[in-house]
Amino acid sequence: GDSQDGDSTFTGGGGNDSPPPLEDRDFATPLVVPATLTPLATAAAADADAYHLTIKPGTAQMKPGRATPIVGFNGIFPGPTIIATRGRPTQVTQTNAWNERVTVHNHGHKVAAESDGHPVDYITPGTSKVYTYPNDQPGGTFWYHDHTMDVTGRHVYGGLAGFYIIHDPAEDALNLPSGAYDVPLLLQDKTFNANNTTVFDERAIGAGFHGDTAVVNGVVNPFHEVATRKYRFRLLNGANAREWQLRFLVAGSSTPLPFKVIASDGGLLAAPVNTTTLSMAPGERYDIVVDFANIPVNTRVTMANTASSQSRDDDDRRGGGGGGGGRGRDIPSLMQFVVARQEADTSTVPAKLANITRYKETDAKSRANVSLSFNNGDWGMNGRSYDPGRIDLTSKLDTVTIWTLKNDSGLMHPFHKHLVEFNVLDINGQPPPPEMRGLKDTVAVPGRGTARIIFKNEGFTGTYVFHCHKLEHEDHRMMLQEGVTR
Ligand code: C2O
Ligand code: CU
Repeated sequence: GDSQDGDSTFTGGGGNDSPPPLEDRDFATPLVVPATLTPLATAAAADADAYHLTIKPGTAQMKPGRATPIVGFNGIFPGPTIIATRGRPTQVTQTNAWNERVTVHNHGHKVAAESDGHPVDYITPGTSKVYTYPNDQPGGTFWYHDHTMDVTGRHVYGGLAGFYIIHDPAEDALNLPSGAYDVPLLLQDKTFNANNTTVFDERAIGAGFHGDTAVVNGVVNPFHEVATRKYRFRLLNGANAREWQLRFLVAGSSTPLPFKVIASDGGLLAAPVNTTTLSMAPGERYDIVVDFANIPVNTRVTMANTASSQSRDDDDRRGGGGGGGGRGRDIPSLMQFVVARQEADTSTVPAKLANITRYKETDAKSRANVSLSFNNGDWGMNGRSYDPGRIDLTSKLDTVTIWTLKNDSGLMHPFHKHLVEFNVLDINGQPPPPEMRGLKDTVAVPGRGTARIIFKNEGFTGTYVFHCHKLEHEDHRMMLQEGVTR
């Protein structure tokens, strides 16, 4: 039932006898672009940008009617966007004004272990912690979110997530769409009770929690007005467990709108990738450029999800493990763009975007295997379930390393490694699709499939986790620890 501090946000299955409509098919609520946080004026402004965030209960206007209780950074959802500049550190003080312990992880960030938001490096209620981020890496779309052992899924679903974007002078020089034409989109699914509180079931250990309604930047099925020009969308799959397969469908046309993928998890691709569809597993980011030129004013363009809910599962799901929690209903559309006005466009998408590090198999000096499987009623890797006091794998700094990720279950697992971005060498023995040939920190390992990643740990030694980014799997211990040593 209802308790203090918005805990009713998190109540499980019951009380949902008359399910609300699955979608707001009118797309009548405007998209909200999360506000950008301003650095503190007082701090040691010469060396770093300083920020202060407070984790606390609040509400979010996710759909018409009653506001939805959340727990968020500064009490809002999504949290405020932090914009950093490559090479200039940020210092983020997090104060926990909630009644549960939390940790904060900056996903995709090369950072010292003590600022990585390790799952048991708690910020206890009433205390604060300072995280320092060097931003010593290429510009890109990242996100900060809760990473508390066993309860990350409930905390992130409840609101503890925000964008962290690194701007890069080399990227600024490219003349990509920017400013109001550069829009971050946090893609999630939620289920609502009739009174607009959200339903969450952390027992969805099998497929992970799937909501029945798309929520973009905290708004159910929003619309966004655009001009007849190019836009950069920074897509983040921040869902607990749902994959998206995105397409842009122009009203009155039977062919999907082509778009360009320009960046993956860790920043710009070497060159743009032309496509009409894009798959995203939980934790992944892709930046895309969509050109609305040539679309008549007053036309609506739907961001559609054409995947059945888990396209990269193996059909034979026996042994996939775990009771509780189905895949959830398919969600056919996320939001709409309304072409509202004519506008000139001086932005460009150059044919060459960036020089990116791409290691070759022959560069590798070290190798390890990581199997992904159901393990004695929990999830696990290499036959072990998460223990924060144990180092499971040791790897050396500045050493090119290949990990072979072997999925022994029928479910796709989005594998995420902390500390550095990696390259995907191959998936099921095949070269990855072009949008996966850049910097990645999360890779979808298909059901019963294999993916190989190659990387070089750099900058910091210490204990870093790697885990499945289906948050119900992570919370059911599908996580191990890498000891990075000299
Ligand atoms: Cu986005 Cu270890 O997490
Ligand atoms: Cu998983």
